Amino acid sequence: MAESESSAEKLARLEALNDQALQGGGAARIEKQHAAGKLTARERIELLVDPGSFVEIDRLVTHRCRDFGMEKNKVPGDGVVTGWALVDGRKICLYAQDFTVVGGSLSSAHAAKICKLMDLAMKIGAPIVGLNDSGGARIQEGVESLAGYADIFLRNTLASGVVPQLSAIMGPCAGGAVYSPSITDFVVMVENSSYMFITGPEVTKTVTGEEVTKEQLGGAKTHASKSGVCHLTAADDQAALLALRELLSYLPSNNTADPPRIPTDQPADRDVPELDEMVPTASSKPYDIKNIVKAVVDDGKLFEIHPSYAQNIVVGFARVDGRSVGVVANQPMVLAGCLDIHASIKAARFVRFCDCFNIPLITFVDVPGFLPGTVQEYGGIITHGAKLLYAFAEATVPKITVITRKAYGGAYDVMASKHIRADYNLAFPTAEIAVMGPEGAVNIVYRREIQAAEDSEATRAEFVSQYRDKFANPYKAAELGFVDEVIAPRTLRRRLAVGLEVLADKAESLPRKKHGNIPL
Ligand code: HXC
Repeated sequence: MAESESSAEKLARLEALNDQALQGGGAARIEKQHAAGKLTARERIELLVDPGSFVEIDRLVTHRCRDFGMEKNKVPGDGVVTGWALVDGRKICLYAQDFTVVGGSLSSAHAAKICKLMDLAMKIGAPIVGLNDSGGARIQEGVESLAGYADIFLRNTLASGVVPQLSAIMGPCAGGAVYSPSITDFVVMVENSSYMFITGPEVTKTVTGEEVTKEQLGGAKTHASKSGVCHLTAADDQAALLALRELLSYLPSNNTADPPRIPTDQPADRDVPELDEMVPTASSKPYDIKNIVKAVVDDGKLFEIHPSYAQNIVVGFARVDGRSVGVVANQPMVLAGCLDIHASIKAARFVRFCDCFNIPLITFVDVPGFLPGTVQEYGGIITHGAKLLYAFAEATVPKITVITRKAYGGAYDVMASKHIRADYNLAFPTAEIAVMGPEGAVNIVYRREIQAAEDSEATRAEFVSQYRDKFANPYKAAELGFVDEVIAPRTLRRRLAVGLEVLADKAESLPRKKHGNIPL
């Protein structure tokens, strides 16, 4: 038959197949998708990428299942749209699951399409963006579907640290399917229409007796604030896709490239006079560290990651003199900026991401120490705090540290101190760099003297004052070269800009090893 077909007929056949693929699961299912507040896979791609830049591959792939009547239920593309495109003129590889086709469920053909795309991304050094909206393993395909998931997990793991991997969860993502996004570098979830869990509400009720809704168990807010599984939430699909675009703007295409430098109108050597007054001199008075960060970065813009999780530490991307930087900052507004389990894990993963992808780190330090208590100790703060120490110590990207106020005890060492290879360590005159705060220190050092004194409170106050003069400042550390400069805060922006310029060609390496053994 094919031989007798005219060219026009051949083209018509192609067009018909293309049309069929573009219609996905058909008008009724697309309407259902829209009614649920969700866009279709193709609508999402259009919003994500530069107009007209998407090139689809494998549009005509179909599944090979012959069981349960599936041979009659075939849609070209098989529930996932894959291809490459440009975002801000740079290449990405992307896939978008199409819930209108067999619930976006993962057949072996669907998995093979994603794997083929991931393999291409690795060859061309492009970020991989996955838009997830799927009922999970294609039930009709059984273990073949599970194998498909494992093929993806393996590629996620191999791609980790080679190309950035970004996931948006825009519908269901349950069971073992959650492990692909969670290996990726960033997870964005859409509020009210997405959820992630290993086992859903039904099984949870049967096994533990707990009654929870899908949203409570695995919705965007839950994972953004309680579990930390999700890095960012978005009000709807469009906001999630814009967040992905913005996130990509800070990242290089792969681990051998630098992030794009984006010019700014703001002079790099601009003084910021208000900074001189922003850190309260009373050392227990809280202030918002984000105001300090925003005062010095380009356009006052901090793209926060994990904004609702472990708020005692702030992490995110910004630019200084057009250069992408990763910001890590203790937040005195929450738990006085103490490091705890969640803050350590949050910051450690972020530091490692930046180190993988040549993004310099700027660390703002105001930390009274690690959070005390049984919850923390039983929860393993020793191991988890060590993650952050390890991550900073291991990182070879340019590291600039600014001590704004407290840098006490082990937390001083951990927070990108000179001793763990930070390159340029600055301190404000308000910095207090010591083993512990004055109150705690005199209670130990002068315990006997205070007990023996007639007026023990006055004696204690005297010792506190002496200690404060001697240690609660940056000058001992400066004498020892543990900080490179004590600076007028107003000059911070220009010092960051110059520091990044000087360090741009920094080359530092780790001892040869297969990989380290970070305390997981
Ligand atoms: C085959 C599926 C499917 C699946 C959904 N569909 N999930 N087909 N395999 N896993 C189909 C439905 O039959 C339906 O087909 C269409 O997709 C839309 O599904 P609905 O149920 O109508 O949609 P909705 O009411 O929105 O509910 C969505 C849902 C539900 C909550 C995801 O479909 C569901 O519970 N699905 C099964 C989820 C599941 O148990 N998956 C396996 C998990 S185990 P029609 O033709 O009617 O449109 C797993 C392990 C991964 O994934 C392991 C990795 C190692």
